[in-house]
Amino acid sequence: MTHNKSIIIVSAGVMQIPAILTAKSLNLTVIATDRSPNAAGFRYCDIPVILDSKDINGHIDFALRNKDKFNIQGAFAASDVAVTVAGITQALNLPGISMDVAIRSNNKSLMKERWLNDKIPTPFGVEVTTLKEAIQVANIIGFPLIIKAVDNAASRGSMKVIDLKQIPQALENAKFASKTGTAIIEEYVYGNEQSVETIIWQGKHYHIGMADRNFGYHPYHIEISHVDPSELNSDIQKNIYEVVDSAADSLGIDFGPAKADMILTSKGPMILEMPARLSGGFHSQYTTPLSTGQDPIRAVLEIAIGLPLTEHHLIPKFNKTAICSGIFPKTGKIISIDGVDKALEIDGIEKIIINKSVGDTIDDYIDNSSRFGWIIGVGKDKIDVDTKIALAKTLINVVVENK
Ligand SMILES: Nc1ncnc2c1ncn2[C@@H]1O[C@H](COP(=O)(O)OP(=O)(O)O)[C@@H](O)[C@H]1O
Ligand SMILES: [Mg+2]
Repeated sequence: MTHNKSIIIVSAGVMQIPAILTAKSLNLTVIATDRSPNAAGFRYCDIPVILDSKDINGHIDFALRNKDKFNIQGAFAASDVAVTVAGITQALNLPGISMDVAIRSNNKSLMKERWLNDKIPTPFGVEVTTLKEAIQVANIIGFPLIIKAVDNAASRGSMKVIDLKQIPQALENAKFASKTGTAIIEEYVYGNEQSVETIIWQGKHYHIGMADRNFGYHPYHIEISHVDPSELNSDIQKNIYEVVDSAADSLGIDFGPAKADMILTSKGPMILEMPARLSGGFHSQYTTPLSTGQDPIRAVLEIAIGLPLTEHHLIPKFNKTAICSGIFPKTGKIISIDGVDKALEIDGIEKIIINKSVGDTIDDYIDNSSRFGWIIGVGKDKIDVDTKIALAKTLINVVVENK
């Protein structure tokens, strides 16, 4: 007897639960992989597999051994793992992008090279290894600049640098966070940021939406909140989409999701990066479905198993605003966390996700992975949701013991 169709969802943390549940609702058998045996998503999938999401060969090996047994029909990048997914889809001849394209979409230096070559608006940047190279490049670019990891995410290893003295440490941090052992040095540009979601299918770029992102904790770059959909007017959004579409073409992304991190500078929209996956940060997972009823995850899961793209999933069904706002308690050891249930009683507060438990330590906020938790709210407009979230924050009480 043939096994029910299955899909491999790479990564099974809290952020990946919506993809796992959506795949289940498509009657797929869900194989979820994560390096942690306690991954929150394992509870919701059918077949948990303990595998590091970046272990490409481990995934290829698993997929080849189990293709027929589980009738594997597709793979889905639930976090920043387009390369792992391309490994699976190429090995099994399933829908997806080529390995070359996946690697390019996961490497800030390779994407930068392409974009600079193809005249796609992006901050000037160069990959470096040694301190000597870094100083040479810094002298060309000028200050401030930003030194970033080449193939990491969530702002890990990235720092704004204002003078020569800061370069050695920033370079070390960025190289440490890069599997390549290198770093990228970029011109620092200023402007409001957007996270832009697109899906490419049969030559067409589907514009799903964009969210406004607010960052803080400089010289690091931590997302404090995002507002979905963006409040930018449609002309500006059109300009942004033009850059996003040409950036995807330049990288060669011709199938599935292409998510852009954009910054609206005084010289126009510029692209910072484009991984070949849907957005994280609870954006595709919660704020988009809550604000418009669009379901990009469902659309991508369906094309991943070879079904046609259902445009209905991508059409807005209503016009609300959803906000995902970080909770940033003082740093130190957590003594107690109270008030979450009370805050959830507020009309429009849909989700509160806490990343830590009593006894854990809250470290300095240096990248997005060190964040404590998030409140996700929905309402008729930004003011309405801001009010609800502010109220929720007054109810949540986190007591920490100073370090
Ligand atoms: N060239 C730049 N100029 C100004 N800010 C930048 C620049 N590059 C990155 N940033 C800031 O750092 C954040 C993370 O950088 P990004 O390139 O998107 O890497 P990742 O999200 O993978 O960590 C951006 O959202 C932005 O706030
Ligand atoms: Mg980014």
